[in-house]
Amino acid sequence: MLISDFHTTLVPLLSCVPKQQIFVFVDANTAEHCLPVVVEEYPVLQSAPVLVLPAGEENKSLHTAELAWSFLFEHHATRQAVVINIGGGMVTDLGGFVASTYMRGIRCINIPTTLLAMVDASSGGKTGLNCCGIKNGVGTFSQPMETLIYPAFLSTLSSQDLLSGLAEMIKHGLIRSEKHLRDLMALLPDLDLQYSSVIEDSIAIKKAIVDADFKENNIRRALNFGHTIGHAIEEAYAAEANAIAHGYCVMWGMVAELYLSVIKLGCPRSVLTDMSHLMIEYYGRPMCNCRQREQLITWMLHDKKNFVASNGSDSQPQISFTLLRDIGCPIVDQVVSKEELNEALEYLFSL
Ligand code: GLY
Repeated sequence: MLISDFHTTLVPLLSCVPKQQIFVFVDANTAEHCLPVVVEEYPVLQSAPVLVLPAGEENKSLHTAELAWSFLFEHHATRQAVVINIGGGMVTDLGGFVASTYMRGIRCINIPTTLLAMVDASSGGKTGLNCCGIKNGVGTFSQPMETLIYPAFLSTLSSQDLLSGLAEMIKHGLIRSEKHLRDLMALLPDLDLQYSSVIEDSIAIKKAIVDADFKENNIRRALNFGHTIGHAIEEAYAAEANAIAHGYCVMWGMVAELYLSVIKLGCPRSVLTDMSHLMIEYYGRPMCNCRQREQLITWMLHDKKNFVASNGSDSQPQISFTLLRDIGCPIVDQVVSKEELNEALEYLFSL
């Protein structure tokens, strides 16, 4: 829910929880910039044990989860405990996972501090960590008690962080609502989102999809649009130890997957052209060397989100995508050949 202060929302949410059973997970950044804002408005947290998680995708690991479980055991957290996750997607994903598995599950509240976490990671009940080389390879479906969106945190974010979150909002527009897409375009290039209704609209789009298919058996896969190719590009960057914001990879992935949508489902070419222009203007082009390009397809085959269809022991695994017939009309489980995939990557890298 969108909130304007923490006192009014946290008091009723935590009224039945013993004070010593409230725990806070942050990272170094949110410990400094966001936790003090929450504590000032809700002083009960002054005495709460705070765990500062190491920041960065490489720390979204089983090792960090173990540190967090140990922290809860050391502080005698019981099944009445509530964990408050204050941070970006790394904190809400990992904190949510730790809470959903500690003593078979305790409650948590998410306070996302990045736009990406506000519109995507912290709502929808997906938790997890990276494992065995697979992004979000291990996790649970577990809804937080509540997700508190405090738009004032947006003023602390860089334009790169805002664009990263915007990519997920554009995805919501592409898969569900042309109006949402138009509203977002109207906010570029300033991205003054704080007083606009677009964040609520984007969360509402995601919520409607999640409510229809919580465990991602069907239509929730529409939310993976852009992510099959996007995650592979993200891995290519990680392999070279290059930092890249997740939303940039999603934007690049969406353009390549729109190309597939045009050639396989007859999606209007104007959608691809418009998004390609937007990508070039605001996100630039992905940097991938030739060796990495070959690797991209291998990584896609390993992405857990790709339903790998096989018709027999000697048949090749196939990569499955969510594609668009048009804006607002996603079609899940579209099998794409390696040739088509190569063509889409060629298009992306030729822009
Ligand atoms: N981030 C995609 C989903 O929540 O399903």
